[in-house]
Amino acid sequence: MSKMAKIDIDGKSYEFPYITGTENEKGIDISTLRAKTGCIAYDEGYANTGSCKSAITYIDGEKGILRYRGIPIEELAEKASFVEVAYLLIMNKLPNGTELRRFSDLLTRNEMIHEDMKVHFEGFPSTAHPMAILSAMINAAGCFYPELVHSYSEESFEIQAARLIAQVRTIAAFSYRKSRGLPIIYPKPFYRYTANFLHMMFSEPYQDYEMDPEAIRALDMIFILHADHEQNCSTSTVRMVASSHANLFASAAAGVCALWGPRHGGANQAVIEMLQNIYKSGDDGTAFMEAVKNRQEGKRLMGFGHRVYKNYDPRAKIIKQTCNDLLRNLHVDDPLLDIAQRLEDKALNDPYFIERKLYPNVDFYSGIIMRAIGIPLEMFTVIFAIGRMPGWIANYKEVREDLKGRIYRPRQIYVGSPLSEYTPIKDRN
Ligand code: ACO
Repeated sequence: MSKMAKIDIDGKSYEFPYITGTENEKGIDISTLRAKTGCIAYDEGYANTGSCKSAITYIDGEKGILRYRGIPIEELAEKASFVEVAYLLIMNKLPNGTELRRFSDLLTRNEMIHEDMKVHFEGFPSTAHPMAILSAMINAAGCFYPELVHSYSEESFEIQAARLIAQVRTIAAFSYRKSRGLPIIYPKPFYRYTANFLHMMFSEPYQDYEMDPEAIRALDMIFILHADHEQNCSTSTVRMVASSHANLFASAAAGVCALWGPRHGGANQAVIEMLQNIYKSGDDGTAFMEAVKNRQEGKRLMGFGHRVYKNYDPRAKIIKQTCNDLLRNLHVDDPLLDIAQRLEDKALNDPYFIERKLYPNVDFYSGIIMRAIGIPLEMFTVIFAIGRMPGWIANYKEVREDLKGRIYRPRQIYVGSPLSEYTPIKDRN
């Protein structure tokens, strides 16, 4: 391949360097495009735009590959714990025994939110979605660490990261308990990360929740599979906010808001709602699939399709297997699993989905696992946010430690009114 890409504009030729990633991904560096040509690159939805160089996560959407810091997701899902994966993403290395113990202790020491935060939970109506509470409370939690706002230092970052990873889980569980009018359950230092979350969700002041190790492992794996996914909508949002040098908690709170939408993390809740509606209507999935293909009321097969994966999402493969195993081991018979499997079979054999390369994504089966564990529907996207936190933190760190980094500021093509005069109100129609 030649070293420079040529673009001809109005009979004049301009050259731009190719840029190649570790896995031979190719791009064209157009950072001087506007200065040289007066034109900007127009790319609605950023489908062809590399917004940054990143060393955290690699995806090959055509081949269905996902790696964190070079390690395949399949290996991490089988062998690692979520806390180990969090360390890997943030610190760029697998921790040795001492490092992992230190990091776990740091999480334990920082898992309690400030007592004054509890009063804020009272201010939300019972109708508040837990994602709204989560975003607001992460930002509020940041207020208790004024040093966050004033400066960024590599040395103090580990403690800020540990605070956020530990507290997002506490805030999530507290918001659930509040929404149900249940007393808050404090974390117990001897429980590991995921078990502690289930304890805070489901224990009672007079009785500890009886934990099933299979359920703990399944949820830990869901956290691992969600831990990072390169430049998706919420991570790009976190990087965007970080590029203005806003603090870590504020940037993560913005990520939660971006994740909430049903086209992104909110899809796990939307999948179950879709399956429940199909179940209630008595449809075997056929009528629903026809409605999707005919675009009735903008219906989509939720949990299907992905901007990057044009092949089976590797996370969906792992989740599907875990889902089948967990339901069998817990003796749970969920009719929604049958419907989901039927929809998947139909979609994988239907030209509409084949031509558009639409396959199940991570959200298609994750909700059925969470239902089996007893996690309520409105908490599904919160679970995603807990899992994604290490990825957001690693991306935040990458932005802040890039000393040449500029504020993210895309341009636009203006298509509004041309120059117009101000009309006084008395002369307006
Ligand atoms: N059901 C039916 N048709 C679909 C679906 C779907 N789930 N997804 C895409 N399509 C169709 C579109 O209608 C479009 O058809 P057309 O070319 O005839 O107009 C074509 O496939 C391409 O779709 P786009 O929306 O352009 O694809 P994009 O890359 O912008 O969107 C997205 C990706 C948002 C994930 C989309 O596939 C979708 O809405 N899926 C359902 C929601 C979902 O599961 N989101 C979770 C994604 S994973 C995650 O965020 C963790």
